[in-house]
Amino acid sequence: MKKFSLLALLFGLILFLAACGGDDTTDGGTDDGGEEASESEGGLIGVAMPTKSSQRWVDDGNNMVEQLEELGYETDLQYAEDDVDKQIEQIENMIVKGADALVIASIDGTALTNVLEKANDQGIQVVSYDRLIMESEHVTYYATFDNFQVGVLQASYIEEALDLPNQEGPFNIELFGGSPDDNNAYFFWDGAMSVLQPYIDEGKLVIQSEQTEFEQAATMRWDGNTAKSRMENILSSSYSDGETVDAVLSPYDGISRGVIQALKGVGYGSGDLELPVITGQDAELASIKSIIAGEQSQTVFKDTRDLAAVAIDMTEAILNGEEAEVNDTETYDNNVKVVPTYLVEPVSVDIDNYQEVVMDSGYYSEDELE
Ligand code: GAL
Repeated sequence: MKKFSLLALLFGLILFLAACGGDDTTDGGTDDGGEEASESEGGLIGVAMPTKSSQRWVDDGNNMVEQLEELGYETDLQYAEDDVDKQIEQIENMIVKGADALVIASIDGTALTNVLEKANDQGIQVVSYDRLIMESEHVTYYATFDNFQVGVLQASYIEEALDLPNQEGPFNIELFGGSPDDNNAYFFWDGAMSVLQPYIDEGKLVIQSEQTEFEQAATMRWDGNTAKSRMENILSSSYSDGETVDAVLSPYDGISRGVIQALKGVGYGSGDLELPVITGQDAELASIKSIIAGEQSQTVFKDTRDLAAVAIDMTEAILNGEEAEVNDTETYDNNVKVVPTYLVEPVSVDIDNYQEVVMDSGYYSEDELE
């Protein structure tokens, strides 16, 4: 009898726990939205993100889920660890699960044409998130930051730090570009070169490696180790005769940290060999720490909370059959159409304003800095 009531209790407990379930986040990054959202009438939003290996996309995903759930939507958040086929598969699954809309930050912007065709066949519309999805007519809106301006901010930082308008120079600079399969990389590069090219042309900035073109400077999948190896090669081939690097244009914090490792490996940052001026992007925690430690010089903060809010406005407009607010209808041509876009403003951050911009705004807490 005693044994029976114990079993009954256990059975009851199992039933109770099963009823509470709904938080079955899997390793692949699935988030089913929790119990609250699954009771909602708002619909299911598929959110496809490129990789968890970069902190910014983790923040992006979390912000999207948090804000969507507050509005009563269910979410299916997936990360593809920079594997293009995996991302396509994840989007296919979202379609099969009956997603009502998709928000996608692509890995390879040109690889989603077929899967977006399938989404369109099911009447599912797509918001392109941060990165423009290319070669498809089935992209309804694009939520991003002013990508050209990001490059301008990075290069202007170098211009000011070296006081280029007033100094004779010459200064040595090396250039890093982003991933060639990401449309943003070209905007960052063009923005930066709009500032740097005149100084290169007049000989005030010298690229000792002679790797002056985007194709030579590009960093596949924004990979920090790839950037580190390239910097190591440049240092040994072009800086072994006493020349020193004065500045490095880096389009993304992960690349900046790789470049810094290569520089430190040959003695920069110790003795009287100072680290060069080095830019970045995303205000990743590791880079804010690096700025505080006096290594990375600058980054560009892109408030992922604001980007999520814009992407969600667009998604809601789609679901309600309304027009979303956009502020650019000319710039972002994906080779099939010009996608109506909302550009959020990026902010340049360095040692002087990080406190105000990323700490006081509540983006990071003091604890996270430790
Ligand atoms: C870009 C994005 C940047 C940076 C980079 C690497 O598409 O706009 O902010 O995150 O990818 O992840």
